[in-house]
Amino acid sequence: MIILSERFKIILDNLKKCEVFADVGCDHGYIAYKMLELKKCRNAIITDISAKCLKKADELLKKDFDGRYSSFVTDGLKGVPYADEVLIAGMGGEIIVEILDNADFLPEKIVLQPMKNSEKVRKTLVEKGYFIERDYTFKAGKFYDIIVAEKGKDEYREEEYLFGRDNIREKGEAFKEQTSNKIEKLKTALKTATEENREDIEKRLFVLEDIIK
Ligand SMILES: C[S@@+](CC[C@H](N)C(=O)[O-])C[C@H]1O[C@@H](n2cnc3c(N)ncnc32)[C@H](O)[C@@H]1O
Repeated sequence: MIILSERFKIILDNLKKCEVFADVGCDHGYIAYKMLELKKCRNAIITDISAKCLKKADELLKKDFDGRYSSFVTDGLKGVPYADEVLIAGMGGEIIVEILDNADFLPEKIVLQPMKNSEKVRKTLVEKGYFIERDYTFKAGKFYDIIVAEKGKDEYREEEYLFGRDNIREKGEAFKEQTSNKIEKLKTALKTATEENREDIEKRLFVLEDIIK
């Protein structure tokens, strides 16, 4: 039995029911396994740039879902024929953007969990014609951003790109805690600030204090 980590549980909750689900950079393949097991998808696709990682996922899925999934050693979505929902999780935002730029197709539904540079991911999604349905920070040991989108038109304000629209609207516990931690670090940095960087630190502090007030 697969016991999912807290981060994976939250990712799984944000995935919708679909026909063909693709996990890009699937590593061990747990999410695709769960999507099939819970009947949240009819078929699954697993991809990874590393043949070694994909082999682990292949072995896991083959036992219970032989014939219901296909696997590709590939860069992102290159060579993948079709999926109506795609997950890209646990990678940096710049790699995620590269994968979307080079994809052979863009899916109807997409769930992204960037490890950093989330603002670049949000901008790319809106530019590529996605409506962002959910965009918030959660805590599962560390803090993570998760972005859930569907094809459609959207407009984001500059601060929404920076912080995530639902974080600004809802000011959830995880977002407030993460921002408070950043504020404390900046306040500490301010104590030893030089003439050159003082103004920059003060500006960043002002933005963060303003966003969670
Ligand atoms: C840190 S792991 C994250 C695994 C899993 N998605 C998760 O959220 O835990 C990153 C995985 O993505 C794969 N990867 C990195 N760049 C990739 C790319 N351009 N295309 C496909 N897979 C990639 C790595 O080989 C690795 O298995």
